[in-house]
Amino acid sequence: MSGAAQKAQPAVGRLDPTERLLRSCRGQTVDRPPVWLMRQAGRYLPEYRKVREGVSFLEMCRDVDRAVEVSLQPIRLVGSEAVILFSDIFTPIPGMGIEVDFRPGPTIAEPIRSREQVEKLRVPDPQESTPFVFEILRVLRKELADSRIPLLGFAGAPFTLAAYFVQGRGSKDFGELKRMMYAAPSILRALQSTLTEMVVGYLNAQIAAGAQVVQLFDTWAGLLGPDEYREWVLPVHREIAAKLDRARAPLILYVRGGAHVLESMFDSGADVISLDWRVDVTAAARLAGRRASLQGNLDPDLMGAPRDVMVAAARRLIDSMQGHPGWIFNLGHGIKPTADPDNVRALVDLIREAKPCPAR
Ligand code: CP3
Repeated sequence: MSGAAQKAQPAVGRLDPTERLLRSCRGQTVDRPPVWLMRQAGRYLPEYRKVREGVSFLEMCRDVDRAVEVSLQPIRLVGSEAVILFSDIFTPIPGMGIEVDFRPGPTIAEPIRSREQVEKLRVPDPQESTPFVFEILRVLRKELADSRIPLLGFAGAPFTLAAYFVQGRGSKDFGELKRMMYAAPSILRALQSTLTEMVVGYLNAQIAAGAQVVQLFDTWAGLLGPDEYREWVLPVHREIAAKLDRARAPLILYVRGGAHVLESMFDSGADVISLDWRVDVTAAARLAGRRASLQGNLDPDLMGAPRDVMVAAARRLIDSMQGHPGWIFNLGHGIKPTADPDNVRALVDLIREAKPCPAR
């Protein structure tokens, strides 16, 4: 815990969910931590499966009515206090000239292996390539106006998108990507640079359409060792953090398996660092100091565990983070189809009883 956390803090009255999330992102005093869950709209909810029936996942992302409905489901069904746009990190990819399909994970028709393929990629005008994304955000902001529930936008980070582009599909070690990194670094650099331009334009367009916070998902950046991470990933995160309209929307950065690169994550300039479940939160809080707020990091598998086991783990996490300035309760990765919705409700209720957080 930083020194600031131990000083007496002025009391803060009851906040609405938007104030609570935005203030937490910026490390200001809050009445208690905000709570939402990565992948909170998903297959663990029978109501989600019903809306998803008979349409492909990609169709659902483009269907404004269905996407709005499932985005809102977690508020009513599990009590989440923020809404994340229902979409995928691959939504803006067809607009770049890459064919992608879900089976059920993303699959790239022609994996990128050459400079010619990178040179052919387009950085699309987001309004032309994914108008439905901005329409979904605008409708959601209207729907959320009365409850003052905040709206998050998101994008996949260049390294993670490049990992799928080069590998062609999900993988444990992304060996093809690593091969390009070592054998043809200039091709990977060019690919990341095109993707960075795309991500900045796409996220700023989401902010303009009403996203109040944006999260960058760098799911696979933890595959790299600390030196390689500093060379290949940190500069990209810094460029994105610098080019986003963060006066309007703070930035959350998530890396899966990133315990060994935390120091670089805190150097990214992101407002909030989202920790996976393998990170020791107390150590992370000490390392963060005043540099960033934290988000996380309950093990997603606990949502399918017996209630008492889940509750005991959540209480331990709340106790460790009690009084830490700027903490957003979340899981350490996306919720899984095996989660029990009753567990999720019980978890959200627990957070509602947590104590105030001081300023950084
Ligand atoms: O958080 C949310 O509720 C918003 C929606 C969201 C989805 N994907 C919906 C989705 C978000 C933020 C994502 C991000 C995403 N997508 C990431 C980064 C975060 C992470 O989870 O690591 C990645 C790597 C992807 C790529 C992706 N999309 C995979 C690997 C898969 C298949 C695995 C799976 O869970 O089915 C998807 C499909 C996907 N994205 C689904 C959902 C709800 C399942 C689609 C369905 O069959 O209904």
